[in-house]
Amino acid sequence: MSAPCRLPARVLSNERAASDTYWLELDAPPIAETAVPGQFVMIGFGLQDLDAPFLPRPFSIGWRGEDGRIGLLVRRFGPGTHRLAALRAGEEVLLLGPLGRGFEWETGRALVCVAGGVGLAPFLFLAPEAIRNGASVSILYGERTGDRVFDPRLVEQLTGVRPDLYTEDGSIGRAGRVIDGIERGTESCLFGCGPTPMLKALERLAREAELSLQVSVEEHMGCGIGTCQGCVVRSSTGDWIKSCTEGPVFRREELAWPD
Ligand SMILES: Cc1cc2nc3c(=O)[nH]c(=O)nc-3n(C[C@H](O)[C@H](O)[C@H](O)COP(=O)(O)OP(=O)(O)OC[C@H]3O[C@@H](n4cnc5c(N)ncnc54)[C@H](O)[C@@H]3O)c2cc1C
Ligand code: FES
Repeated sequence: MSAPCRLPARVLSNERAASDTYWLELDAPPIAETAVPGQFVMIGFGLQDLDAPFLPRPFSIGWRGEDGRIGLLVRRFGPGTHRLAALRAGEEVLLLGPLGRGFEWETGRALVCVAGGVGLAPFLFLAPEAIRNGASVSILYGERTGDRVFDPRLVEQLTGVRPDLYTEDGSIGRAGRVIDGIERGTESCLFGCGPTPMLKALERLAREAELSLQVSVEEHMGCGIGTCQGCVVRSSTGDWIKSCTEGPVFRREELAWPD
């Protein structure tokens, strides 16, 4: 995996994509050229911006264009993501990336991507790359409410895959949880990204059905490069491991899954 770069990146566009959710495109050729699906960037705001959070924030690389653009799917929670949501074309952010370990897949396998909320982001990158490498890909995408759904037509435009959509309020797509859409007894490889309860349910299902599963975990991160220890998760052997350098993608067997 190539060394990460640190660079100022110009905002090319920042569009509201759903309630509290933004599609942010940045000009970042060195990152677009070397990133693999599942990797992430740390976004910082620069010391001259005194009101912005001091620590950078991690985001999955959601897409890359051949012209050096990268796309990020950003949902507002606190000060960092509010700041990102307010960015306008022409402004700059500080990027560090690509970081971490990405997804792995075998040519010719059927991949089932299970996305909860903005856990959709890494699959917007994974799906077209895997399809180009001869895999078949399906995307199960769930949100709590319909107003948060990232337009399925855009998902199809970016990935070539029409997602199977689930909302818990039943207002768009099928009513229920995304996990309900997984067919047991298939030979598919599962890939998951989303809230921890969803990943736990996915792990239980994969274990019982003996399916291969890789998950991307979203721990809080202070540095993204292995120095602050802010992102540790418990491994299946009982050790604490850093999700920024050893993950964020893990095989299910590598992690402890307490009830
Ligand atoms: C590898 C990785 C990839 C990520 N990719 C994406 C992505 O593609 N798109 C995206 O929108 N986010 C992504 N995240 C999460 C994102 O980094 C956080 O939402 C962000 O750092 C929050 O910063 P903040 O300053 O807005 O909020 P903070 O001040 O850090 O948090 C505000 C409040 O929201 C809670 N909170 C923060 N983040 C989340 C969350 N993700 N889920 C639930 N509660 C949360 C905090 O516990 C706190 O209570 C990713 C995280 C990791 C580790
Ligand atoms: S985020 Fe600092 S060690 Fe992982």
